[in-house]
Amino acid sequence: MSGVRLRAPLSPLLSQMDAQGLDYDSRRVQAGFLFFAFPGSRADGRQFALDAIGRGAMAVASALPAPEGFPAPWIEVEHGRQALALSARNFYHRPDERIAVTGITGTNGKTTTSYLTDAILRAAGKTTAMIGTIEYHLGGRVLPAVNTTPESLDLERLFAELERMGGSHAVMEVSSHALALGRVYGLNFHTAIFTNLTRDHLDFHGTMEEYFAAKQLLFSGAGGPPPAWAILNRDDEWCRRVELPRECEALWFGLGQGVTVRARHITSNLQGLRFEVQNRKERFMVESPLLGKINVYNILAACCAGLSYGFTPETIAAGIAQCRAVPGRFERVDEGQPFAVVVDYAHTDDALKNTIAVARGLGAKRIITLFGCGGDRDRTKRPLMGKAAAENSDMVVLTSDNPRSEDPLAIMNDALVGIRRTDVPLAIEPDRATAIDRAIKEARPGDVVILAGKGHETYQVLKDKTIDFDDREVARGVLRGFGYHREPK
Ligand SMILES: Nc1ncnc2c1ncn2[C@@H]1O[C@H](COP(=O)(O)OP(=O)(O)OP(=O)(O)O)[C@@H](O)[C@H]1O
Ligand SMILES: [Mg+2]
Repeated sequence: MSGVRLRAPLSPLLSQMDAQGLDYDSRRVQAGFLFFAFPGSRADGRQFALDAIGRGAMAVASALPAPEGFPAPWIEVEHGRQALALSARNFYHRPDERIAVTGITGTNGKTTTSYLTDAILRAAGKTTAMIGTIEYHLGGRVLPAVNTTPESLDLERLFAELERMGGSHAVMEVSSHALALGRVYGLNFHTAIFTNLTRDHLDFHGTMEEYFAAKQLLFSGAGGPPPAWAILNRDDEWCRRVELPRECEALWFGLGQGVTVRARHITSNLQGLRFEVQNRKERFMVESPLLGKINVYNILAACCAGLSYGFTPETIAAGIAQCRAVPGRFERVDEGQPFAVVVDYAHTDDALKNTIAVARGLGAKRIITLFGCGGDRDRTKRPLMGKAAAENSDMVVLTSDNPRSEDPLAIMNDALVGIRRTDVPLAIEPDRATAIDRAIKEARPGDVVILAGKGHETYQVLKDKTIDFDDREVARGVLRGFGYHREPK
């Protein structure tokens, strides 16, 4: 536990013992492990400490005081997650010092920017890991994502595994929760990216200032050195407030004043994006099948990451072109039909508005928006989602989206309150597959059909069971039923 701040010195016996493993989940503890007990959001980790000892843990480390009469050594540390982070780095022999890690933070665009950055690294011939919301990638293997940013222990383990595979670069989404909790405490980032900051997650952080303070930690280098490179959105007022350590090289991307890496001559249409990237030394064209001007920012950020690794413009442009889609983020289902079908994860009124605005910006003739509201979740957003869809679309198809234990018709009724304030043409169909069929049938050349809410999800949660359900597969089936067909590239 070298470097970990303790509230009381270790007993001589304990300081001579080496842990056989570390864990914060008592179910995985084996003989000789050191167990970390956190004050969890759902259960107090101390409840699990006894279980861990029962499974052979040598001791418990925690910022909480030992329960009365605890039957095993209890190491009281100043900060539980920081202690885990430092111990995990030591246990795995600091792989993050040898792996070049890119950390991406911000309210929106983290997942997209990480896919783009990973594509550039792979275009440069690197074996990579990518860690984020949708899934984790480890040198070509796909692992399910547990958290957008995993616990430090899982991160270091992934990095160690990447190193064993001959990998050299990792890209990860760094959520503000992870920063505030200390999941990336002490981690060495080569490159840190800040996409933007808008209102979100204030239930956790309290105020925008605190939300921002969490983001700032990525650049100050909490518990470790600051990143060698800082990549920031110059057009975002919060990014401009970031304080950068002197040794950190900054690249400012954007379209406005004061940028070092800029996009010029932007073409945005249903085929994708094309623009020139210009920095002090060079200019190069990039082309991407990703849609919507929002992605200009994500692509610029990824290009900057490529520049921070010294890659050539050709390599960077090749990587950008090779990133064909980000699962469930304005993802196109293209079977060669004369209208667009996009699947998007938007499941709040604000996200719906944004997604529909992207479709408008692409020159859609009409926009047909399909959406539903989740059951057993915030009811107040249902009429707001209805209103957002109705006010901004030319037709709305109201359906189900994970109704869970609620009656799908009752959920739809709540959404209808917002839709009925407008006179938008409306179809109501609780069965999502039938609804997708209906929405696509309505489309005429030049229209955009937005299938909102599920994005990359591949299931639908019903009252008594969870069924396989993938908007992209269902839409593809419908299009093929109409005789469209395109061979995958
Ligand atoms: N640079 C951007 N600026 C504003 N909005 C964006 C940007 N990039 C993506 N978005 C919007 O945010 C949505 C989520 O994008 P993405 O998954 O890349 O972000 P994220 O930061 O990983 O989000 P989450 O915190 O939900 O994982 C997209 O569907 C898009 O509508
Ligand atoms: Mg994400």
